[in-house]
Amino acid sequence: MVNIIQISDMHYGSEFSDEYFNNIIQYIKKNHPDAVVLSGDIVHKGRYGQYQNFIPYLEKLKEASPNFLVIPGNHDAKNNGLVFFEKFVGPRRSKLTLDNKNTIIVGVCSAKDDISQGEIGDEQLDWIGRQFLSCSLENRIIALHHHAIAVPYSGRKQATLVDAGELIELTQLFEIDLVIMGHKHIPHAYVIGPTTFLYCGTTTSNKVRADESPSFNHIILEKGDLEVQMVNSVNLLPSLLLERKEGRTRFVRPRRTRLEHLLKSDVWDD
Ligand SMILES: [Fe+2]
Repeated sequence: MVNIIQISDMHYGSEFSDEYFNNIIQYIKKNHPDAVVLSGDIVHKGRYGQYQNFIPYLEKLKEASPNFLVIPGNHDAKNNGLVFFEKFVGPRRSKLTLDNKNTIIVGVCSAKDDISQGEIGDEQLDWIGRQFLSCSLENRIIALHHHAIAVPYSGRKQATLVDAGELIELTQLFEIDLVIMGHKHIPHAYVIGPTTFLYCGTTTSNKVRADESPSFNHIILEKGDLEVQMVNSVNLLPSLLLERKEGRTRFVRPRRTRLEHLLKSDVWDD
């Protein structure tokens, strides 16, 4: 069994909350996850000063969970900020192997300099494939920032990867258990074949959509079975987001979709 906490979209520098951040540190220390994954948008504007000021927060995260993987998001790449990501945070892509937990987490950079749109690119697709080709670890996870599949009610601006099809094909080919993403601050999930595509809310900012709360995902994965608790960053209360047992998935949607809002609306009556 592997126990992972996914945090995302910190947005240090804009609507960032120290209170939520301290809550998360407290939660990590109490729950002792095998790894913590931060799926991008660490800072809001990609500026030198924001990265520099975020270092003490990064240190606290690494202290709370020595197994820590972080990848950049589109906000980290604003103002050509990826150079500062590399200087202050780490490489744009990296992997975490937890041999005693039979787990590999491969993190890739889907962010591009100064544009919101995401792309994995052939070179990284090749690199991801090679990580899994030569790996016998059973629990297989990919982490990236942008969406592999569009999420309803998440805003419509360039959220999905240019080469989403290639990534999805790769997940089926290599029987990836889990793809974890951030970007539009909406907790959500899809399942295709062996793969669950899981989205995280914004963990430490108030940049929420509609009536969402800031949140993070607590993931437990064991031999293809999966449980995801969405944890509210304000009060640390968990609620079940997804449960997959023996190949059957129950997804508990925490909100109405756009379609449900439209179907309830009087405006469209004839
Ligand atoms: Fe974000």
